[in-house]
Amino acid sequence: MTVTNIQTRRMNVYVTRQIPEPGISMLKAHFGVDVRQAKTPISKPELLEHVGDVDGLLCLLTDPVDAEVIAAGNNLVCISNYAVGFNNIDVRAATERNILVTNTPGVLTDTTADFAFALLLAAARRIVEADAFARASKFNGWDPMLMLGQDVHGKTLGIVGFGKIGQALARRARGFDMRILYYSRTKASDEDEAALAATFTPLERIFAESDFISLHVPLTEQTRHLISHDQLRMMKPTAILVNTSRGPVVDEQALAEALRDGTIAAAGLDVFEDEPEVNPLLASLPNVVLAPHIASASHRTRSLMAKIAAENLIDALAGRRPRFPVNPEALTE
Ligand code: NAP
Ligand code: GLV
Ligand code: GLV
Repeated sequence: MTVTNIQTRRMNVYVTRQIPEPGISMLKAHFGVDVRQAKTPISKPELLEHVGDVDGLLCLLTDPVDAEVIAAGNNLVCISNYAVGFNNIDVRAATERNILVTNTPGVLTDTTADFAFALLLAAARRIVEADAFARASKFNGWDPMLMLGQDVHGKTLGIVGFGKIGQALARRARGFDMRILYYSRTKASDEDEAALAATFTPLERIFAESDFISLHVPLTEQTRHLISHDQLRMMKPTAILVNTSRGPVVDEQALAEALRDGTIAAAGLDVFEDEPEVNPLLASLPNVVLAPHIASASHRTRSLMAKIAAENLIDALAGRRPRFPVNPEALTE
């Protein structure tokens, strides 16, 4: 019997930020692990400094893993993103060097859709404004005219990007008896459309007919500023826009002006064009609910994301196909 020990060197991974357990323990069982302890996103110079001699990188959606960073990763086998979105990574540059990129789809779908619906309800029923009002001791008694908002039940919801999260939002909207229109790059199957009671609709009609519009596309060159002045002008003055996708899908200045001028009624935003900056005009308006990119932030989901991100890296560094490759073509020799 021949025993071959192909792994002579212990592999090393760099983790750009503390992530929930069990992620770090899982990695430590296999690799030398360096976890960056700072509580702010890593800068590009710091990434360049650390990527040079590691076999694996576990990074966040805040981390600019561009072509230069990837080129500096001399031993890099896999970049495991702790997110489903991967617009922070130059996937093409990684593929050119046969470096695998992985992400964490699926486990965060329902948690993110819950939050999109929470933003929709909060913006429609003015919950954040009402909370501030009640805390400020301004509640002087029940008032027939106090804080009137928009009904959600029975209204039309336009979903842009009908993938996992967009479809999960549709399931929630059915419980509110909403009419569901959707637009996506690929039309859903007849069975999925029937099960979700959702109708494939051109974008212009979604803008014109929807009471609520919720964005669930990835950020790509095709979706950058998908919503700008022209699209906002097509919407109803009572329309409410929800964005839990990526900030740059919306022209934020155009949105802020539309909210200020009454072009549309309100918005609920989890993501911003230049995170962590929030457009000052947006932040000054009462008719927008703001959240600091927390749509997937439940204890359970963030822990599951950590597990999957660690598993992806462990599999890739062992030469196995990970569960969630973004660029499986990088696997072919
Ligand atoms: P997904 O299952 O891949 O769904 C994305 C959908 O968008 C797909 O149906 C895709 O079409 C469609 N699409 C892509 N490009 C398009 C275009 N140019 N025009 C119209 N539709 C287009 O992804 P997901 O898991 O639902 O996640 C969606 C996005 O949400 C992620 O990329 C991420 O940026 C964001 N996100 C944010 C948070 C948060 O914390 N706020 C949490 C999770 C996810 P195909 O079917 O043709 O590919
Ligand atoms: C969060 O924004 C994600 O893409 O997972
Ligand atoms: C409101 O509280 C009502 O009873 O109608």
